[in-house]
Amino acid sequence: MNLVVLGAQWGDEGKGKLIDIVSRDADITVRYQGGNNAGHTVVVSNKEYIFHLLPSAILHKGKVCVIGNGVVVDPRALLEEMAALKKRGLNVTPRCLKISDRCHVVMPYHRVLDGLRETKRKNKIGTTGRGIGPCYADKVTRCGIRMVDLLNPKVLKEKLQDNLNEKNEVFNKVFHHKAYSFIGIYNEYLGYGKKLGSYICDTMLYLNKAIGQKKSVLFEGAQGTFLDIDFGTYPFVTSSNSTVGGVCVGSGVAPTKIDKVIACVKAYTTRVGEGPFPTEFSKRLMEEIRTKGNEFGATTGRPRRCGWFDSVLVRYAVIVNGVSDLAIMKLDVLDDLRKIKICTAYRYRGKVYKEFPTDFEVLSHAEPVYEEMDGWMMPTSGIRSYRRLPRNARKYIERLEQLLKVGVKYISIGTKRDEIIVR
Ligand code: IMP
Repeated sequence: MNLVVLGAQWGDEGKGKLIDIVSRDADITVRYQGGNNAGHTVVVSNKEYIFHLLPSAILHKGKVCVIGNGVVVDPRALLEEMAALKKRGLNVTPRCLKISDRCHVVMPYHRVLDGLRETKRKNKIGTTGRGIGPCYADKVTRCGIRMVDLLNPKVLKEKLQDNLNEKNEVFNKVFHHKAYSFIGIYNEYLGYGKKLGSYICDTMLYLNKAIGQKKSVLFEGAQGTFLDIDFGTYPFVTSSNSTVGGVCVGSGVAPTKIDKVIACVKAYTTRVGEGPFPTEFSKRLMEEIRTKGNEFGATTGRPRRCGWFDSVLVRYAVIVNGVSDLAIMKLDVLDDLRKIKICTAYRYRGKVYKEFPTDFEVLSHAEPVYEEMDGWMMPTSGIRSYRRLPRNARKYIERLEQLLKVGVKYISIGTKRDEIIVR
């Protein structure tokens, strides 16, 4: 069984926790897009782990994790993540981690350019500042440096020289920023090649061979559907395909090999960074839910914007990802609310929108149309079976199933591994 777990909102849906649970049944877990802009939080025996580049399944002994070709790798960040795990007693060996030779590499000038571009924009994206956009831009303009290049001093030299010739002019003339020296970056990145060389391979061949031998593969999405470069709230998106299509191009595994797609959603909505957010709370509820749900970015620590569940948004995600099952995360955060709202449509200039609109003006000014339900006003974290959930909590979930036209299989009611109901 080959399974995809991805986010159906704006990221931070709690994929890390679900992946930690379902990856126990998978032989191999694969990241296929994004980079260290992601932050996947897993809590095991009261210890918190936050993963940025490594698949969260790295916590399971004897399993293999793959960083697929669609991921952009900042080798410095990856080595830091591996070193931090080693300090906590977990050794990441080439047997348990494979990095695609085709992954594009985040360079120091990408990180700096990410910040400089933001300063020039009128409509800021609020990126994580990790150099993700500039790295993917180089991939598409065909001047990127790939992991395989770090293993070949001659190729790395030529590519880096070419890049610096062009980029130093841009840094100087457009941003009045000092130029980069070749030798420092060259030596630093050759060093990364030496450290990571034994992990680098053709992961497309590795994965297809494993699938041929009936191994089960879990594809771990990063970010969420509405941060997808094509289907997200462009331009307030990330630079990769976080929707299910990204799995195939980002790992080299064909769609015919994918059996199931599980989408994670929060029982409400959050978003980090700028961009339209029709169901965003007003100040009082925002602070209440942010505190209860600990809604601060796992990568940058920025406070997340919070709002009501938006079924227009998630229904769109269900369609584009061909979702088989839903996982509703953080239901317990709503435990104390007397009334709970669900957005079922948008209204703009007298017109009602039942489908997620593409037009930026409509989306930015859309007034949500809400349905209101009674809350359940009791703690849910100790509950382990669906029928024991308070009646109003079940009503909420069943209403979401009706609106989204897909069944809910997992309900998370706390941060710990075992705080989950499987239906
Ligand atoms: P970038 O991916 O750093 O270029 O940032 C682009 C947008 O995606 C910004 O709004 C970020 O806050 C958002 N973003 C990127 N990665 C994540 C994530 O893992 N969770 C939530 N938002 C993210």
